[in-house]
Amino acid sequence: MALVSSTPAWQALQQHWQQMRSQHMRDLFADDPARAERMTADAAGLHLDFSKQIATEETLRLLFDLARAVDLEHWRERMFIGEHINLSEDRAVLHTALRNRTDVRTLVDGEDVMPAVDAVLARVQDFSERVRSGEWKGHTGQAITDVVNIGIGGSNLGPKMVCEALKPYQSAQLRPHFVSNVDGTHLAETLRGLNPETTLFIVASKTFTTQETMTNAQSARRWLVDALGDDGAVRNHFVAVSTNTEKVAEFGIDTDQMFEFWDWVGGRYSLWSAIGLPIALAVGFDRFAELLAGAHEMDVHFRSAPLEQNLPVIMGLLGVWYVDFAGAKTQAILPYDQYLQYFPAYFQQGDMESNGKHVTRDGQPVDYNTGPVVWGQPGTDGQHAFYQLIHQGTELIPCDFIAPIKSHNPLGRHHELLIANCLAQTEALMRGRTLQEAKDEMMASGLSEAEADRLAPHRQFDGNRPTTTILMEQVTPHSLGALIALYEHKIFTQGIVWGINSFDQWGVELGKKLANVIIGELEAGEISETHDASTEALLQYFLARR
Ligand code: F6P
Repeated sequence: MALVSSTPAWQALQQHWQQMRSQHMRDLFADDPARAERMTADAAGLHLDFSKQIATEETLRLLFDLARAVDLEHWRERMFIGEHINLSEDRAVLHTALRNRTDVRTLVDGEDVMPAVDAVLARVQDFSERVRSGEWKGHTGQAITDVVNIGIGGSNLGPKMVCEALKPYQSAQLRPHFVSNVDGTHLAETLRGLNPETTLFIVASKTFTTQETMTNAQSARRWLVDALGDDGAVRNHFVAVSTNTEKVAEFGIDTDQMFEFWDWVGGRYSLWSAIGLPIALAVGFDRFAELLAGAHEMDVHFRSAPLEQNLPVIMGLLGVWYVDFAGAKTQAILPYDQYLQYFPAYFQQGDMESNGKHVTRDGQPVDYNTGPVVWGQPGTDGQHAFYQLIHQGTELIPCDFIAPIKSHNPLGRHHELLIANCLAQTEALMRGRTLQEAKDEMMASGLSEAEADRLAPHRQFDGNRPTTTILMEQVTPHSLGALIALYEHKIFTQGIVWGINSFDQWGVELGKKLANVIIGELEAGEISETHDASTEALLQYFLARR
């Protein structure tokens, strides 16, 4: 397979950047009064403004050419119809089927997966309703008040992010908690103050072999059994979500208390499956179904809208533009909504585990950059932390600003202030402030010309920093579902342009393997394997002092 960098479409973009690098967005706006109106698009209740980009109609045309050169539309269809596009693991990629509540069949290897999807969803509904209503009792006959999800990566971040985002919809009677880190502090601090008689554990692991999750699950089980004095208590207090029935049974959870999912659901795309059980428990099954519906609406848009009006495609291609042609190394996600506080962390995994790849689908090394470093945190905290570097540092950092029109907590002027900050940041990042403007402002406030000259370089902003703004009416299950699916398909779009497999994650394997060697040594109290000199010295340091 030829690398995308050898295509005429790629080379045209390289040349085009040479013209665009000296363009300022201020001039692009001044020259084209219709720009803001034209460079916006709407789908599934989301409004996307992509006009504050170092991009013209010509840039977009060349980017759409690139998408066609890599056959994006064809690959998109292959995903939706269940082909094995995860080539290194020989698997289909069908998280979209999990949120397809229509009666469309989806075949994987000739078999319709929808009856199994529906059956598991029905069990999630039944179980979540029984727990929420108090019909499901703990070992001593009390109703459940706290649910502790034990999982890591995709088996933690998705449900944790969504439960937080949908807090206004949560029942006060049932509190969700999330334990992921193998650091015993995480479990200990979470369990402190919880009552074993009213606590339900969900052990969530696709493989049911993940060391962190299994270790936390064993310790949680000990905590429960020690407190209730009966091994039989596990039945009322532990359920599992996994693809691995054998391992669930081996752990001691009856498989009739296991919620199944399938190898065609990637871990970081799994919140739509039974991995979403904590969501259904926290906000109720109907809300969970609305989340699925919002994502499905975005799926339909992604699958059918022309590339030129396709939100995930536009976002994905603009990302490629900055990473591969403008030299951006990172991408910030900046939600202006406190409930979306875990959204950047969620897509840090979603994006970086998907597109942090150095070879193409057929194993050739790439000669261009792939996935950027994804990071961020909610505004306005970030403004007082790292925005300085975005405004005046030497790195080009494309930023996504995400904000709801309505707050769930309309307290005084808070929401207006929040949104004013959000919009002002995108304006400042685009416009900047010229040297002359900086100087004039200072002189108008009474500084001498000499002082203004001295300070102006510090107070001048280049501007021309690209931002995308995503607005929605409110953070609801439906809009959140659409927003998550938007980012998922953006990642897909970029993976196809780069010719990589966005659905495996071999890069996390080596560290896991070496950790197993070191665990043996720590437990034996002596070093038995050969390590590099640094690792060996650190191990010795640790062993001598513990
Ligand atoms: O970090 C690697 C990874 O395999 C992720 O892709 C996954 O989400 C996480 O570990 C947890 O895996 P599991 O659900 O099998 O415990």
